[in-house]
Amino acid sequence: MVSYTIAELVEDLRRIQATVSDELEILHQVRPLALKAVQAKDCWLTEKLYGASEEQGFGVHMLHEEPDHSLAVMAIAWLPGRGAAPHDHGTWAVVAGVDGPERNDFYKRVDDGTQTGYAELRKVGQNVYSEGDVVAMPSGMIHGVWNDGDSVSVSLHIYGKHINHTARSKYDLESNTASPFIVSLES
Ligand SMILES: [Fe+2]
Repeated sequence: MVSYTIAELVEDLRRIQATVSDELEILHQVRPLALKAVQAKDCWLTEKLYGASEEQGFGVHMLHEEPDHSLAVMAIAWLPGRGAAPHDHGTWAVVAGVDGPERNDFYKRVDDGTQTGYAELRKVGQNVYSEGDVVAMPSGMIHGVWNDGDSVSVSLHIYGKHINHTARSKYDLESNTASPFIVSLES
């Protein structure tokens, strides 16, 4: 069994943050660490991390956050048949499947971004991520997440900054609107 604790992951993330400035290079270096953390899930994955709120459709569990909100590591549990509307992160993001498949729909913004609260998206891709699959997203990338399965799924999320502190947006495909996306945290 691979041994790799969240504390060890955070140490590696801090080293990358301190030495790398190019975002694509950060993603390139964080990706294998996310996979290693999944392979070592016995070190950190507890039953509690499967908890999710009915109201939100998913449960956000903080595993680490720096005092300035950078380097946020979260486990997110997704209820069956639920998900998150298309959104960006306002920072780079690396997400690794831990337990159960999660469908990701990817979107591109096609309006010019000049009208406050208005956004037109076009779907540009779709992929299903299961245990050990990693998706690395630069700032500005838009995706929606859905659990099409019949049991709770869990994924590991690593962000350059806590997503409630990046002024990011979620998007409504019906009304072509953009609005702030703040998530509730599990206690
Ligand atoms: Fe996301």
